[in-house]
Amino acid sequence: CLHIYKNPGLFGGLARRIVSKMNPAPYSTSNGCPVFNPYASQQIGTPGPLLLQDHHLIDLLAHFDRERIPERVVHAKGSGAFGYFEVTDDVSDLTKAAFLNGVGKKTRTFTRFSTVGGEMGSADAARDPRGFATKFYTEEGNIDWVYNNTPIFFIRNPSKFPLFIHTQKRNPQTHLKDPDMFWDYLVQNQEAVHQLMVLFSDRGTPADFRHMHGYSGHTYKWVKKDGSFNYVQIHMKADQGIKTLNNEEATKMSGENPDHAQEDLFRAIERGEFPSWTCYVQVMSPQEARQQNFSVFDLTKTWPQSKFPLRRFGRLVLDRNPDNYFADVEQAAFSPSNTVPGVEPSADPVLQSRLFSYPDTHRHRLGANFYQIPVNRCPVAHNPFIRDGPMSVDGNNGAEPNYPSSFAPMPYRQDLNPSNTLSEEWHGAATSFHWQATDADFEQAGQLWEVFGRTNQQDALVHNLSVHVQGAKPHIQDQVFAMFARVNPELGRRLRAATLALAPRKQPNM
Ligand code: HEM
Repeated sequence: CLHIYKNPGLFGGLARRIVSKMNPAPYSTSNGCPVFNPYASQQIGTPGPLLLQDHHLIDLLAHFDRERIPERVVHAKGSGAFGYFEVTDDVSDLTKAAFLNGVGKKTRTFTRFSTVGGEMGSADAARDPRGFATKFYTEEGNIDWVYNNTPIFFIRNPSKFPLFIHTQKRNPQTHLKDPDMFWDYLVQNQEAVHQLMVLFSDRGTPADFRHMHGYSGHTYKWVKKDGSFNYVQIHMKADQGIKTLNNEEATKMSGENPDHAQEDLFRAIERGEFPSWTCYVQVMSPQEARQQNFSVFDLTKTWPQSKFPLRRFGRLVLDRNPDNYFADVEQAAFSPSNTVPGVEPSADPVLQSRLFSYPDTHRHRLGANFYQIPVNRCPVAHNPFIRDGPMSVDGNNGAEPNYPSSFAPMPYRQDLNPSNTLSEEWHGAATSFHWQATDADFEQAGQLWEVFGRTNQQDALVHNLSVHVQGAKPHIQDQVFAMFARVNPELGRRLRAATLALAPRKQPNM
């Protein structure tokens, strides 16, 4: 027990918290010097000037001055919970990943939900995709599923990400959300139109985090022992079902309770109503991928479920609220580059860029040793070559050599030697490639418009779009109407009529 108590890791921290709740130590400064009264400050006379020697007061103020760390550049507002993943169906024919092998096998997890564009204090009900990121603490390392609640995304050229995000945030001069730059970007980059159809349906304003699905969006590779692989897409279906807000409900909720989704998730878990998601995989062989009329590396496209059916393999359950929001939710660091043998990134250029971007932003936001923070720590990681740096707090690998030393040889997993397995081959000239929008980018968006006809979402889509588009200048509005007319002429016409009804133009023919 003493060993667990003294351990600097997660379990040591828990043990110390339990003991300290039972028998709290006297109040002290951060170095442990007992303090009689937290409100008192040392001064000459009453009233009178303060003394620099008052370490308690200076300790308190100086630390307060440093309480904030940079918020995430995107996905700043979020909520999180611990849980577990359980394998429900055999997928050993598809991947060698240990955490996916063995029906009934459970793996500890931490999940963070988020909105994308708003700041840390922004409203949970915003019209925005929702992030759905889960860290699995597996016996072969931590793997993160850094997913969204939409199966597609706005871009497929990674260089567009910062530029697109700028237009969805604030105008650099007015510091206001700006419908002109929002739509100006989108009419120039119309491969986003499929995602816009989802965003401006009521799916763009989920009722809360428990009632929405999660999707990998990107194509990944599930790899077998011999190195052969299939392309996969992951779907996580909310066992609670889907619930959405309409535009007016979402606006009202934003004003009345900007934290409603945080409250909903925390209170549900507190009540013992543990939300869960059933996980499915779509599987496509590399040969099949070559025969599709879309690229599997195109993040703006879905795979037809009629050809690539969903195959169930697991369940994610969230069953524990974090004790401390900052420690676990704010300091959580997810990355698509965190993976395990048997799961690999595909050549999707956006995914490839994300592999760089997340650890890079973590080093900026949390520091070079971000992976030592308990929520990010991998129980089985062993890399004594990554050493030192600011805030090294896990013992820094003690006396172990900091290079592959013949004095203390380390075991290496021989089954991972790539020369013993098949591997993917790429050939071609180095080019400068911009994946431009074409008519083909309107096909799946057009099919979605038909689906909305069957599910009574067409009116909502037209209304939600018109409320937003009315804020843009007339010549931008006209380009928006033309873009949606390429999805379906009726959608273009109805959007024009609804927008002009909300924001009539001075000259009727304008
Ligand atoms: C968060 C970059 C596309 C899902 C973030 C963060 C960055 C980032 C810098 C903040 C991370 C942090 O501070 O901890 C990018 C770039 C992209 C991209 C450069 C494209 C080139 C995507 C896509 C998805 C996605 C396509 C989903 C399929 C998420 C999620 C989070 C996030 C869920 C929040 C993680 C958390 O809860 O901490 N992204 N992103 N991102 N991104 Fe992306």
